[in-house]
Amino acid sequence: MSDVVVPEIHVSGSEAFPGDAAARIAEEIRGVIETRGQVRLGLAGGSTPEPVYVELASSTGIDWTLVDFFWGDERHVGPEDPQSNYQMAQRAFGGPFRAGRVFRIDGALPADDAANNYAAALGEQPLDLLLLGMGRDGHTASLFPNDDSGSMPGSDDTEGRVVVTRSPEPPLTRISLSLETLNAARLVMFLIVGANKAARLAEVFDQIVSEHPSLPAARIQPKSGRLLWLLDTEAASGLDVASARATPRTQKDKPER
Ligand code: 6PG
Repeated sequence: MSDVVVPEIHVSGSEAFPGDAAARIAEEIRGVIETRGQVRLGLAGGSTPEPVYVELASSTGIDWTLVDFFWGDERHVGPEDPQSNYQMAQRAFGGPFRAGRVFRIDGALPADDAANNYAAALGEQPLDLLLLGMGRDGHTASLFPNDDSGSMPGSDDTEGRVVVTRSPEPPLTRISLSLETLNAARLVMFLIVGANKAARLAEVFDQIVSEHPSLPAARIQPKSGRLLWLLDTEAASGLDVASARATPRTQKDKPER
């Protein structure tokens, strides 16, 4: 697979990570608004992004009325549920959320209905900027290892854009963008922190560089978009970042052999 997208890596200290990641995301948002007039932003769920969103919400130079908020996935729970990715983003963003247009995955509906409605709201246009996390098992969005639902098109009415998947951890039912839709994004940024992700991240990178991606996070290979990995030093501790052609910044940071 000679067209494997080789990852671009940016590593920050754990303390600096939320601010560094928010600054990079804000820069991309401003750039998209400048060139396209508005931005379709796909948010990641889980815990890693929350402090990043808090920092991002106070970025300067972003007209949040030009931001369309989408999600890469949602748990099959209502919007008030503390496990909801929508709930986390609403809490973290505050004002910018109220200014922008929010396209929530309605986890309170039956899962198939939520998926169909979200596919219709998402439409055919790719996301301009998609934020993703990675679980310790190598899942991303709600595409889990050994669960092919994310790589096969969903039922006809979602045209493969949105799938209902099963998580090994509760909430067991999830609604997720399909692998095909995730890979249609113009720019994908992974946000990954913590020593407990280091070994799995090294495995993901091995799969990418050896061109044998099998874990969902390794199968994020944007069709024509860019792929950036925003890591903290703990999550990156298992990587030989040079082999993934890291940015010069991380080359300089690479510990002397
Ligand atoms: C979710 C996310 C999921 C998350 C990873 C990492 O709904 O939980 O979409 O893919 O990004 O599980 O989660 P943490 O950031 O909490 O480690």
